[in-house]
Amino acid sequence: MRPVFRTKLCDLLGIEYPIVLAGMGSRGKATPPALVAAVSNAGGLGVIGGSGLEPEQLRDAIRRTRELTDKPIGVDLILPGNIPKDTPLTRSEVRRQIEERYPEHAAFVRNIMTEHGFGPHPVDNEFVVANTTGADGSTPGSSNRNMLQQQVDVTMSEDVQVFAAGLGDPSWVTPLAHERGMVMMGLAGSPRNAERQKQAGVDIIVAQGYEAGGHTGWIASLPLIPQVVDAVAPMPVLAAGGIVNGRGVAGALSLGAAGVWVGTAFLASEECDIHDEHKRQIAEGRSQDFDIRKVYTGKTMRSFKNAAIKAWDDAGLDTLPMPYQKILMDDFNSAAAAANRHELHSNPAGQGAGGITAIRPAAAIMEDLVTGAIAALNDVNAKVEI
Ligand SMILES: Cc1cc2nc3c(=O)[nH]c(=O)nc-3n(C[C@H](O)[C@H](O)[C@H](O)COP(=O)(O)O)c2cc1C
Repeated sequence: MRPVFRTKLCDLLGIEYPIVLAGMGSRGKATPPALVAAVSNAGGLGVIGGSGLEPEQLRDAIRRTRELTDKPIGVDLILPGNIPKDTPLTRSEVRRQIEERYPEHAAFVRNIMTEHGFGPHPVDNEFVVANTTGADGSTPGSSNRNMLQQQVDVTMSEDVQVFAAGLGDPSWVTPLAHERGMVMMGLAGSPRNAERQKQAGVDIIVAQGYEAGGHTGWIASLPLIPQVVDAVAPMPVLAAGGIVNGRGVAGALSLGAAGVWVGTAFLASEECDIHDEHKRQIAEGRSQDFDIRKVYTGKTMRSFKNAAIKAWDDAGLDTLPMPYQKILMDDFNSAAAAANRHELHSNPAGQGAGGITAIRPAAAIMEDLVTGAIAALNDVNAKVEI
């Protein structure tokens, strides 16, 4: 028999356990249908990281997930606060401008490729660029209003129960989602952002601490979660950042959260489609191996500290403004992947990786989170006299 472990979040989302797979946008590789469905089937909520998928790829991902589960699922999209008007700024044009205005940066990428023995392999598309891509810095799309609008339209027209808004302002999506009976979540890295998300009409706040993998802010989970819980009460809050076992889940509940939003722990699942090298870094790395830099995307992002990051630190260059840094490094990522040098690629994950030692089926990870949380809560009860 499955253990009982419920909070009010379970009723709100129609799920068995208050555990949500974080939507991770990595061209569909971090949250493939098999992983999303496995988490939902195990009683949690699986969320597709849709930000790096073109609209029809997103539709396909949703439908393939639906073939594997009839339980609630969600889609996460990154909604930029200020969407640039359809600027005709293609990758080629950005590259040309980098060569012209930032020759040192262009030389940095050329040199590091030469040093590691591989040549250029630029990203093979001309999508208009902006700041709406997934955390691994290698996504092609979701880059203008039309693309984003289409991603939202696809999500609204498919069988999806939850919409999660990564960065940005979800106020234009909330009415659409609510009209369709969907639950809206909004990510926040500070109490102020959480209040903004609440004003934008979301139903649940995801409070994401500094420890988290991917794009993240500067406030650690321990101080962040109670502050967000107080700021938006009585709205339910999901705790995110550094939660990789049941003790983390129990801790999050003690801080006032109604559930958890877990990324890195599920990157270390058999169903996850990220490269094996990325999984190896998570299984073998220590917490301090995952650090925050702006090098890959131009925004603060926690990823495995590799030789490319070390070279960037040594070079002492400033981060280029949007979208230049990302376009520069997209081409580097593309070249590293083509040369099968995935240890140099942008590989985001959180500090929680230090507590992960194996790649396991998602259902086993879910089971440990649930039984571990129950054991930790019982343990606290047993050892505290009140
Ligand atoms: C590979 C990767 C990609 C991510 N992509 C997104 C994204 O597209 N949208 C988003 O809202 N959050 C994204 N995140 C952040 C997660 O949603 C989540 O907040 C974070 O993984 C939680 O911390 P943890 O990794 O310590 O569990 C990403 C995180 C990782 C590790």
